[in-house]
Amino acid sequence: MKKYKLILFSTLSLLITPVYANDNAEQLFNERCAACHSINDNSHITLRERLQEKAPTLYYAGNKFNRAWLQTWLAAPSKIRPGGYSFFNNVNVTDEGDVIDESKITTHIAVNSTLAALLTDYLMAQTPKSDLIALEKVTLGKINRSLGSKDFNKFKGCGSCHQDEEGYGGVSGPQLYESIQRLQPEFIASYTRNPEAWDPKTLMPNRHLNDNSIKKLLNYLNVISQ
Ligand code: HEC
Ligand code: HEC
Repeated sequence: MKKYKLILFSTLSLLITPVYANDNAEQLFNERCAACHSINDNSHITLRERLQEKAPTLYYAGNKFNRAWLQTWLAAPSKIRPGGYSFFNNVNVTDEGDVIDESKITTHIAVNSTLAALLTDYLMAQTPKSDLIALEKVTLGKINRSLGSKDFNKFKGCGSCHQDEEGYGGVSGPQLYESIQRLQPEFIASYTRNPEAWDPKTLMPNRHLNDNSIKKLLNYLNVISQ
């Protein structure tokens, strides 16, 4: 038994310390990331499977993230979803509101800057949804902050699931107070317009917003991300 363990251990060490050349970002992803993240079309999965997923899909990463943000984040990750991806396992519903069980929120693995650059190139090449992005024409502008906040929280109800300020707002969706740094504006517009087009099992409701409403929301996200 002891000998077997030793052999297994040496084999594992060989597996996790290869030198990564430029063309094996895919291998790197499969070894380090694929245990949690899907990279292929997962839109056909059932709701049950969707709720069991450990991490967000990276299937359309190249249509979603800003390259500079992605590369920096992979080397020094920070929280994106206050309640984690499986917020329903990590959040206790109480009379005082949703309380996050912080002991269940794990820190994301970090990679060194060379691997971050390699993985960024690989992920930014995943662009199966370019047709949806091409439908959006976004020019970021400004909006009065308190009017924007009222629109986001009170009229459109986004704040019941998303934070527009650190520690303030809902926890079932990703925080949005730094979304303009993190996400391509056309992705934000497209996901807000039609969440199911990106994720058929999304828990985000489609509010059938018109172009003007979407523009106002983007301008607000722009103002709060400064
Ligand atoms: C143990 C599981 C696990 C592993 C392994 C893992 N991740 Fe993650 N990843 C997560 C979770 C959970 C989140 C959501 C974090 C959050 O929202 O705060 C996440 C978020 C991300 C995001 C942001 C996705 C989004 O839609 O917001 C990227 C990009 C990412 N991971 C890339 C990677 C890469 C590249 C690797 C391999 C080097 C990797 N991850 C390995 C669990 C994992
Ligand atoms: C009932 C809860 C709920 C409401 C209300 C809601 N969302 Fe969402 N939203 C979600 C969830 C859940 C996701 C996807 C979660 C994930 O990938 O982890 C999401 C994703 C997003 C994303 C993509 C962010 C990313 O990092 O992947 C954007 C942008 C977004 N929502 C904007 C909005 C806006 C703008 C509104 C108001 C019009 C809104 N949402 C209302 C729950 C909600």
